[in-house]
Amino acid sequence: MASQPFARLRSSHGGILYGGDYNPEQWPQSVWKEDMRLFKEAHINEVTLNVFSWALLQPSEDTYDFSMLDRIVDLCKENGLKIVMATGTGAMPPWLTKAHPDVNRVGYNGEHFRHSGRENFCATSPTFLTLAPRLAGKLAEHYVQRGDAGKPDSPIVAWHVSNEYSGFCWCDRCAAQFREWLKARYGTIEKLDEAWNANMWSHTYHSFDEIDTPSGLGDGMPTPNQYVTGHAVLGGYSLDYRRFYGQQVLHEYELEKAAIRRADPTALVTTNMMGTFNDYDYLDWRTDHAGAGTGVDFVSWDSYPGLGEDAAAIDLRHDLMRGVGTQKPWMLMEQAPSNQNWMPYCYVKRPGQMEELSWQAVAHGADAVQFFQMRQARSGCEKFHSGIISIDGTDQSRTFKECAALGGKLEKLSADILATVPQAGQVALIFDWNSWWGLQFSVGPTSALDYVHEMQRWYRELHRRNIAVDVVSATDDLSQYRAVIAPCLYMFTDAMTANLRSYVSGGGRLLLTPMSALADQNDELFVGQTPVPLRKEVGVWVEETDSLAPSTPVPLVFASHAPVTNTGTASQPNGNMLFNIVHADPRTQVLATYGSQFYKGTPALTFAASEKDESGRTDLAAGIGGIMYCATMPDEAGTRDVIDCLLAGRHVREVESDPLVEITRRTAADPSGHDLVFVINTAEGARTAVAPESGVDLLTGQRVSQGQELELASFGTVIISVQ
Ligand code: GAL
Repeated sequence: MASQPFARLRSSHGGILYGGDYNPEQWPQSVWKEDMRLFKEAHINEVTLNVFSWALLQPSEDTYDFSMLDRIVDLCKENGLKIVMATGTGAMPPWLTKAHPDVNRVGYNGEHFRHSGRENFCATSPTFLTLAPRLAGKLAEHYVQRGDAGKPDSPIVAWHVSNEYSGFCWCDRCAAQFREWLKARYGTIEKLDEAWNANMWSHTYHSFDEIDTPSGLGDGMPTPNQYVTGHAVLGGYSLDYRRFYGQQVLHEYELEKAAIRRADPTALVTTNMMGTFNDYDYLDWRTDHAGAGTGVDFVSWDSYPGLGEDAAAIDLRHDLMRGVGTQKPWMLMEQAPSNQNWMPYCYVKRPGQMEELSWQAVAHGADAVQFFQMRQARSGCEKFHSGIISIDGTDQSRTFKECAALGGKLEKLSADILATVPQAGQVALIFDWNSWWGLQFSVGPTSALDYVHEMQRWYRELHRRNIAVDVVSATDDLSQYRAVIAPCLYMFTDAMTANLRSYVSGGGRLLLTPMSALADQNDELFVGQTPVPLRKEVGVWVEETDSLAPSTPVPLVFASHAPVTNTGTASQPNGNMLFNIVHADPRTQVLATYGSQFYKGTPALTFAASEKDESGRTDLAAGIGGIMYCATMPDEAGTRDVIDCLLAGRHVREVESDPLVEITRRTAADPSGHDLVFVINTAEGARTAVAPESGVDLLTGQRVSQGQELELASFGTVIISVQ
C-alpha cells in the first residue's frame, strides 16, 4: 500500500514530523549547539539536511568528504532529531561545471550557461547522470554503514532527491536524444509527419536528422514572429519536447533513487514537488507508476502561497498533490515560517497565519509539517527570507514563538491526527498536464484562458460549500465519485474516453466545459461534430466558439425546471470569455440559455441523461447519471448555479459556513477511531462558525455540541474529534 511510507515514518518516530531545511554548513559550528537548544524549545523533531551541499561533500571529482555532514548528523542524533536526508544534487559544485561544461544547460535562446544558481543541470548530460547518482549512492552506503539509515529506528527516515526539479535544456545533445526518442515513439519519419501534421508551413521532415528542438531560436521563437510567441507552430512537436524532457528529468531521479535503494532496499525516497507546476507531468512521478518501485514513495511538496491568495487556491494545490500521491497522506516539505523573499512583496505572515496554513495542509492530508528554513540565512540571496530562528538568533521573535507554539500543539495532537487519513472526495476534479500544455501552446481561441484558473473556478465553489474534492487523473477509477468535473479537458486518449464513458454509463455524472474533448495527444483536432469522442453521450454539437473580452459578460438564463436553489437571492449569473454555440439533441435537456448576443436563447447549459430511474424519470433531481455540458465559463454566480444543477439529487454532503471559514474532515483510519473535523478561519479577523458535529475540541479540550456557535479567533482553528 502506498500509505505504508507514512506508516513507517510514523512508527520510526511516533508522531508528526515537524522541522525542515537545516543548513548549518552556512554557519560557524559555535551556532549549532544553540540551534539544538532552540529546536528543543520549538518541539522540532526533524531536520532536512544536505539539500545544497554537493560542493562540500565532493571537493573534486575523485574526492569525497562527508566529515562535516557526519558531525551534523551526529549532533542531530544526539539531540533525538529525525533526518530527511537530501542527496544534495540540486546545485552543482563549481569544479564540476568548469571541468564538464556538458552539465550546464543551454537556454531557450541558445545561451550556454556557466556555473550559476541551482536546479539547472542538463538532464541528458552523461557526466551529470553518472556523478549525481554516484553521490546519492555513496551517501546512502555511508549512512547505512554508520548505522544511521536502513533500520526501522534509524535517524534517517527518508531520502530527498535533488530539489524542486524544474526547467529545460535546449542543447545539441538534448536535440540528438530527442530525435532518438522520436524514432522510438514514431518508428518512421512519415508517421511523425503525420502525427504532427508537419505539412503546415512547410515543416515536412524527410529525415529525423532535420529535427531540432522547439526552442526560442526555432519554433518557440519569441521574436520576431509575434504570432507564435509562447505558442507552438506544430502542437505535437512542442508537446513531444515537453514529454521527452520531463522523462529525462524523471530518469535522472530514478537513477538517484536506484543508487539509494542499492544501499538500502527499504529506503523511502521522494523529491519535493511544487503543486500546479507546469514544466513536468507529475502524474508520471506517481508511486510505482511503472509497477517497479519507481516514482516517489510518497508525495512531498513545497507550499508558498502568494500575497492575497485565498484558501481555495492553496487547497487546490494540496488536493492536486494528494491526487498525485493517489490520495494518500503527504509531506509538507517546505513552507515559509513567515515571509518569503522571492515574491514581489515580502509580506510577513500575519499573527496566527502560519499556524492556520499548517492546519489547512494537515486537514488536506499532510502528515508532516516542515519549513524552509530552520535558521534565517545571514547572507546570500535568501537573507531576507524568514527562518524559524530569525536573524536575532533567539527565541524572542514572533516567528519563533508561533513556530514553537505550533510545535507544542502538533506534539500533543500527533496521535489523534495520525490515527486519521485524508477524507475520500465526493466530487472529483480532473487535472491533466497534457491538456494544460496543449491549451497553452494553442494560438486562440482566447488569450484569456488560464488552465489553473479554470480549475480554481470550479474548485472554489465546491470549497465554499465545504465539499470534499479529490483531484484525479482522467484515467483514475472514478466510480466512487458522485460527480466529476473535467474543466478544459482538451486532449483525449482512447483510454480517457473509455474511462469517462464507463463512469457515465455506470451512473456517474460528468461536467464538461468549453475547450473539452477537442484534440488527440498530438494536438490534432478531432474531425467531426465537437466534442467528437463523447458526441453521443454529451447530447450536443458545438458548432462555433465565440470569444469575447473578459469584460463582456453574457447573461445566463436558467430554465424554470433547472434545479437551481439560489435563483432570485443572489446576483445575476453570467457567462464569460468563451461561448460555445451548441445544438442540443432532442433528448438533451436545456437547463440554461444565453441572454444576449446573436445566440440569445440558444443552450448554454445542457444535460444528457445516460439512464432513466426506476419510474422512467430522466431529470436531474432524481439523481440520474449523464453528461452536463457548460458551454461558457460562468462567473461566480453562474458557477454556483451550474454546481447546483450538477449536484442535484446526488446526495453530496455540503456544510454551510462563512465563506472565509473552511470545514474539512480527516476520517478515522480504524473504525473504532474518531474522525477529525477542522474548522478553520482562513483570514484575518474573528469569525464564527456553526459546529457541524459534536465532539471534543482537541486544541482546548472543551466539548463541542453540534449546532453550537464556535468563536474563531483571527486565523483560529477548532479541531473537533467527533465522538
Ligand atoms: C523553495 C526551495 C528552497 C528555498 C525556498 C525559499 O522553492 O526549495 O530551497 O529556496 O524556496 O522560499
